[in-house]
Amino acid sequence: AMIALRQLLDHAAEHGYGVPAFNINNMEQIQAIMAAAEATDSPVILQASAGARGYAGEPYLRKMVEAAVEQHPQIPVCMHQDHGASPAICQQSIRSGFTSVMMDGSLREDMKTPASYDYNVEVTRKVVEMAHAVGVSVEGELGCLGSLETGQAGEEDGVGAEGTLAHDQLLTDPSEAADFVAATGVDALAVAIGTSHGAYKFTRPPTGDILAIDRIRAIHARIPDTHLVMHGSSSVPQEWLAIIREFGGEIGETYGVPVEAIVEGIKSGVRKVNIDTDLRLAMTGAMRRLAVEKKAEFDPRKFFKAARDAARDICQARFEAFGSAGHA
Ligand code: G3H
Ligand code: 13P
Ligand code: NA
Ligand code: ZN
Repeated sequence: AMIALRQLLDHAAEHGYGVPAFNINNMEQIQAIMAAAEATDSPVILQASAGARGYAGEPYLRKMVEAAVEQHPQIPVCMHQDHGASPAICQQSIRSGFTSVMMDGSLREDMKTPASYDYNVEVTRKVVEMAHAVGVSVEGELGCLGSLETGQAGEEDGVGAEGTLAHDQLLTDPSEAADFVAATGVDALAVAIGTSHGAYKFTRPPTGDILAIDRIRAIHARIPDTHLVMHGSSSVPQEWLAIIREFGGEIGETYGVPVEAIVEGIKSGVRKVNIDTDLRLAMTGAMRRLAVEKKAEFDPRKFFKAARDAARDICQARFEAFGSAGHA
C-alpha cells in the first residue's frame, strides 16, 4: 500500500533502522527495487527527480508506481518527489499523487545558486502548509551538499551549487537546524555532512575529516523528532567500477560513502538514505559486460534484465545493511 514518508520513517525511528530511498526513472529500476523489497520484506521509498520526470514523464512514473503497489500489496511504498525546486513544483507533485515531497530551498529555483536561510524557510514553510493539509509529508534541506576536500558540489548537470562552497556552507549547523525545523515544521531534514551527488564524491576512501558522520549526532540531539536524511549516499562500489573499466567504460578513480559509515549515521538518527548513482553504475556495468561477452545478442530485454538483476542485488544489500529488512 501507499504510505506517507512520515508514517514510514516514524516506524523506522521507533525500531532504529534506516530506509534507502532509491531514484526511479524506468520500469526496470522499479522492478529491481520491488524484487529486493519482496525478498527482504522491507518497506520502500521510490523517489523521482526532475530529471526522471523529464525522462519518463509524470504519468508513466505514477502508473508504474501504481503497478508496483498492485503487484506487491503487502509492501509499504512511499512515492517521494526528490529535490523540488519551488513550491509550484511541489504542488504539482502533491496533486499528481506523491505521498511525500522534498522542497530543496537550500538552493534558489535554478538549483545552482545557494539560497539564503530566510528564502529557505519561506519556501519550505509554504510547502509544509500545502502538503500537510492533504496528508503529504515534506523533506527540507539545510546546508549545501558538496565536497569538504574541494568545496565542489559534484555533478555538473545534476542537482548542486555552482562554484566553490565555503566550509561552513558544507556542514549543517545544529542550532540553525533546530530553528529551521521550528520555523517550517518539516517531517524530514536533509543535512550536509560532506557528501555530494554523483560518482565523484571523494578522491580517497573517506575519513572523518571529509565525511562528518559525527555531525549527525549533534543535529539529531537538537531535533530528535525530525527524521534526518543523507543525500549523495551511493557507496560507488569498486567492483562495479572495475567491471565498467574492464568492459570498455571510462571512469576515473573515485570513492563513495562506505555502507559502514551509513550504518553509523543510522545509529545516530539518519532514517532516509538517498541512492541513485549505485544503481546507475551497476546497471551500465552489467549491460557493458553483456554487450562484450555476448556480441551476437540484440534482444534489448537481455540487456535490461542483466541491468535489473544487478540493481536488485544492490538494493537487497542496502535493505539488509540499513536494517529495514523484515519491517514491511
Ligand atoms: O539528486 C540527484 C539524483 O541523483 C537525480 O539525478 O537529476 O540526473 O535524475 P537526475
Ligand atoms: P547519489 O548520487 O550518491 O546516488 O545520491 C542520490 C541523491 O542524493 C538523490 O537525491
Ligand atoms: Na542543499
Ligand atoms: Zn539528493
